[in-house]
Amino acid sequence: MSHDLLSRRCRFTSKTVVVTGGGTGIGKRIALDLHAEGAYVHILGRRGERLLEAKREASSRSAPSDGERFFCHECDVSDHHRVDEVFDSIRDLTGLASGLVTCAAINPSRKGITETALDDWRKTLEVNLTGVFNCCKAAVLQMLAGGGGSIVNISSVGGLKAFRTRTSYNASKFGVVGLTESIALDYAREKIRANAVCPGYVATELTAPLFEKMGEEGFAALVGAHAMGRLGRPEEISRAVLFLLSEEASFITGVALPVDGGYLLKG
Ligand SMILES: NC(=O)c1ccc[n+]([C@@H]2O[C@H](COP(=O)([O-])OP(=O)(O)OC[C@H]3O[C@@H](n4cnc5c(N)ncnc54)[C@H](OP(=O)(O)O)[C@@H]3O)[C@@H](O)[C@H]2O)c1
Repeated sequence: MSHDLLSRRCRFTSKTVVVTGGGTGIGKRIALDLHAEGAYVHILGRRGERLLEAKREASSRSAPSDGERFFCHECDVSDHHRVDEVFDSIRDLTGLASGLVTCAAINPSRKGITETALDDWRKTLEVNLTGVFNCCKAAVLQMLAGGGGSIVNISSVGGLKAFRTRTSYNASKFGVVGLTESIALDYAREKIRANAVCPGYVATELTAPLFEKMGEEGFAALVGAHAMGRLGRPEEISRAVLFLLSEEASFITGVALPVDGGYLLKG
């Protein structure tokens, strides 16, 4: 095996990395890949059973002792008291966080502004944007104390370009890109990098209701809207995230990277 491959396999050895929304979908894949590369992985989410399933999956892929490197925290990221509590316990368990990936998000309202209920708007912003703010704030404080770190916030192609009838989701994901740039600018000299990844469509629990509702023809059109003529896969998003999170991206900060099979190119 080449030296390059070997070094890539352990880019996160002994690093404490937090993944929100790590119990399912793209976040779970990122958490499993980080675990495989030697990190102490802490996943956050509201449903404890989904977090434990991810932990079991991590354990089944590695030596039994490696289970000790995967930690589950039931946490609503929109609750800043709980987020601070969880980050304190993460520090006590495996040391200061040097990596953060924010995947937690919801999309309860696929509607234009006149049909969007204020409550759905608030919920979307609370989780997708304030949740990212809460976790970034807690992480940056630990990274400052630890001498640096790397943040990757998951936005969306919908954070770079508006889609019809996505008022709340678009606003939240554009906000994530702005927040990421702001952190990147403020903390570049403190060796904290912040980048965003903007995925195209991937089949997950988040998109399942949309795919179901749009029917066969609509789904084919959506797939065709990606220049590559297919949806993304969680591992493809994960590879981009791990690159940006790692030292391989040591001179990259403040970018919002589409990982979208050419979706934005076509649009
Ligand atoms: N799939 C796509 O096509 C696509 C495209 C572009 C961007 N994205 C982005 O990719 C990220 C991952 O989404 P996904 O597609 O993998 O969907 P997913 O499987 O539904 O993941 C979302 C995760 O967020 C967690 N979550 C939701 N609300 C939370 C809260 N208040 N506190 C803590 N955790 C919360 C969920 O767990 P609990 O419900 O247990 O809390 C779940 O694990 C999201 O940011 C999404 O916007 C996805």
